[in-house]
Amino acid sequence: MAMKIDLAFTPFELEKKDLAGKSVVVIDSLRATSTMVTAFENGCAGFIPVASIEEARELAAALNDPNVLLGGERGARALEGFQVGNSPRDYSAGKVRGKTVIMTTTNGTRALVAARKAGDVFIGAFLNLSAVCRRLKEAGRDVIIACSGEKNLFCLEDFVCGGAIIACLGGDGNSPALTDAARAAKILYEHFSADICAMLEGSEWGLYLDGIGLGEDVRICARIDSSSLVPVYRGGKVFLEP
Ligand code: MLT
Repeated sequence: MAMKIDLAFTPFELEKKDLAGKSVVVIDSLRATSTMVTAFENGCAGFIPVASIEEARELAAALNDPNVLLGGERGARALEGFQVGNSPRDYSAGKVRGKTVIMTTTNGTRALVAARKAGDVFIGAFLNLSAVCRRLKEAGRDVIIACSGEKNLFCLEDFVCGGAIIACLGGDGNSPALTDAARAAKILYEHFSADICAMLEGSEWGLYLDGIGLGEDVRICARIDSSSLVPVYRGGKVFLEP
């Protein structure tokens, strides 16, 4: 039977879907999932995504472990008392190798928590596009692309990244069954595919990041297939499977 692919525009929509037995790919291409992939490339041990700043602080205090860092953002800005923000450039090997990061971001960690009831949850970004596609094919389950969006509204960059994964899943003569949302994402990806960096830079969040001096992050998040790592989210943690 052909693989079915659906897409949720926002975490709010994802919460309403039946995720049991499906593969969910959570995407926050600017920047949370791109940052996670970068962190794993630099030897990070894992992430514990939490919804609020308070929860993050409480958990860090309870764990009281020098190998646990606090990370995240609000309005893309680093948080007081947190050791790392949400910029991929913060997650250098020197800072994160061997460390676990308790992470809270505006949309990305929220989407992850909303995906927790799925059969598999994968971390997706432009950085690991082909690797995610391979992993989804191996899993062989129906797929839901979970866009993190912006405060429960549509955002271009996650939708187009989802469309890129859908286009990849349709390669090699496969013909997955697409919902209208999945089909629209694929069409929009095809529209932007010649210059993904320009799409990211011209998106509302890309322009915002550039405006506060974080334009370099946007260009880093456009490095298609720079990683072959596919972190998973299971049991409340994001990690690399052995
Ligand atoms: C988020 O989770 O909302 C983001 O990754 C925002 C950002 O820091 O760019």
